[in-house]
Amino acid sequence: MNILAIESSCDETAVAVVKDGRQVLTDCIASQVDLHRIYGGVVPEIASRMHIEAIYGLADQALKKAGLQRGDIDAVAVTYAPGLIGAVLVGVNFGKSVALALDKPLIPVHHIRGHIAANYIAYPDLKPPFLCLVVSGGHTMIVDVQDYTKMEILGTTLDDAAGECFDKVGRVLGMPYPGGAALDRTASLGDDHKYDLPRAKPGVNPYDMSFSGLKTATLNFIHHAEQVGEELDIPGLCASFCCAVSDTLVPRVMQALEQTGYKKLAVAGGVAANSRIRKNILAAAESFGAEVFLPPLSLCGDNASMIGAQAYYEYLAGNVADMHLNAYATKSILGETI
Ligand code: KG4
Ligand code: ZN
Repeated sequence: MNILAIESSCDETAVAVVKDGRQVLTDCIASQVDLHRIYGGVVPEIASRMHIEAIYGLADQALKKAGLQRGDIDAVAVTYAPGLIGAVLVGVNFGKSVALALDKPLIPVHHIRGHIAANYIAYPDLKPPFLCLVVSGGHTMIVDVQDYTKMEILGTTLDDAAGECFDKVGRVLGMPYPGGAALDRTASLGDDHKYDLPRAKPGVNPYDMSFSGLKTATLNFIHHAEQVGEELDIPGLCASFCCAVSDTLVPRVMQALEQTGYKKLAVAGGVAANSRIRKNILAAAESFGAEVFLPPLSLCGDNASMIGAQAYYEYLAGNVADMHLNAYATKSILGETI
């Protein structure tokens, strides 16, 4: 089954064709990052306008690159939540139009379910159940993936997402948007133990996390150093920050592995590209005898292949939409409107 998949939830317009949920026939992406970088973050209206300008050409290019005709498409999938609402609306409306024109089923896909499904492309033999750590720009959660479309959230951030903190700290350090990758590169030159940054232990649920305290403490630390004219060891600060994020994530994931008894751990989302988090997860999981699934960097960030992968399983589960499909800025991974 060839699924034409569309992703436009933030600042990447992406179109892919994925066969049977696992085989990427084509994957085209138009990143707007350079444009938003001027403003230090995503400007929602600019994002929507750029999606509208790019989306038709990208879909056309995706089919041509794969040597496919419109008639070779069996279904159309689109990210319908969550994201910048104007941006998601562009993809949803385009997806509806294509499904209507081709007279094919329309499959709505939750963006975070898509991130998890990036692992199905990277690891063709991976099947649920497994545990997944989702770390993106807007979400941080530990998910029990019981089946392709049946999930339970074991824990989540109670405030900021890990990626948000990376971007904020990167911005204050003068790094280009989005700060996560630049901060990671700078951290590679630094000492993990240079600065003592806080690790929060919020609430009663052992799997819940908090990053706003770490973010504020790091920003205050930078501003204070500026005010008193103290020169900071920037690579050391970046390394210490990455370490604090990793220390917040990894022990909780290991505890969840222990509780669920799973021996398979997947990681998903843009922050899954972080070298320290990747290294520390691998080392910790090894001591648990658990197999780790880490998508390549190209599948960690936003892309349409992951949407096409998840769409296949949504379709098999009967999750198709009609022409009344709407877009949602927020929606739980379990499908509830929040
Ligand atoms: O999953 P994603 O592409 O978009 C959302 O769905 O949010 O995640 C984007 C986030 C940004 O915050 C970006 O700074 C972060 O992923 N990111 C990283 C790295 N590469 C991207 N964070 C830390 N280390 C990285 N190497
Ligand atoms: Zn994403």
